[in-house]
Amino acid sequence: MNREQISRIAHTDHPIKSPLDDASVDRLLNAGLPRGDERAIDLGCGSGEWLVRALAARPGLLAEGVDVSDDALSQARQAAHDRGVTDRLILHHQDAASFASTARFDLVISVGATHAFGGLLPTLAAARRHLAPGGRVLIGDGFWDRTPSPEAVDMLGEGTDLATTVDRVVADGWTPVHGHVSTRQELDAYEWSCWGSLASWALGRPGDPDSAEALATANLRRTEWLRVYRDTWGFVSLVLARTPG
Ligand SMILES: C[S@@+](CC[C@H](N)C(=O)[O-])C[C@H]1O[C@@H](n2cnc3c(N)ncnc32)[C@H](O)[C@@H]1O
Repeated sequence: MNREQISRIAHTDHPIKSPLDDASVDRLLNAGLPRGDERAIDLGCGSGEWLVRALAARPGLLAEGVDVSDDALSQARQAAHDRGVTDRLILHHQDAASFASTARFDLVISVGATHAFGGLLPTLAAARRHLAPGGRVLIGDGFWDRTPSPEAVDMLGEGTDLATTVDRVVADGWTPVHGHVSTRQELDAYEWSCWGSLASWALGRPGDPDSAEALATANLRRTEWLRVYRDTWGFVSLVLARTPG
């Protein structure tokens, strides 16, 4: 099985591919789209869930999504079709870091995709290139809530604590106008959902040639989460405006 197949099954019951519940997603979108007639883009949109939810609740919104995963974009197309928003969504099968557009956007979203740009600040630099005057950025990224083990750093990469993460963003010329730190409940619900969905899929298909690999992956990823990073990793989502001057 390739990573995309595993990701698709793992996110069956949690289409937002980040540790955020529905109410948090709604609040973040409301803070980023205060009017409802904006133009939004999602860099690393995955299956398009942020954009499709935003479009479904705002008939005046126009949106574009960029992702390198063909599989995820097919899901985004289907989700847009199911929720009747296809005519207001454009999807680009492209590297988000080098994506160029003549359009400018009132909201640039990038949640759980900073690895595509080489980190948090390069993601903000890319977002800035797409931002309309007065626009906002909705960014989500991991941080270390406690000192991580070397194994956790090997797995999830270097990072900073929450205050330092926000300080770096502010020093880069942004002002947070809204923010959300994923709760223990959101972090746990996300991991249980992903590895539980993958395990359920495997257990329901004993004769499938991919079943054993899927079950082994579910068990491995759940164990890595519980043993390596559950106690130290956190996730923050910020809605940002440019700081004047
Ligand atoms: C953790 S998922 C997050 C998806 C979505 N933002 C969400 O929160 O539901 C990360 C996404 O980044 C995409 N990605 C990774 N590298 C990329 C790149 N260079 N350009 C565009 N998308 C990329 C992956 O295909 C995946 O869909």
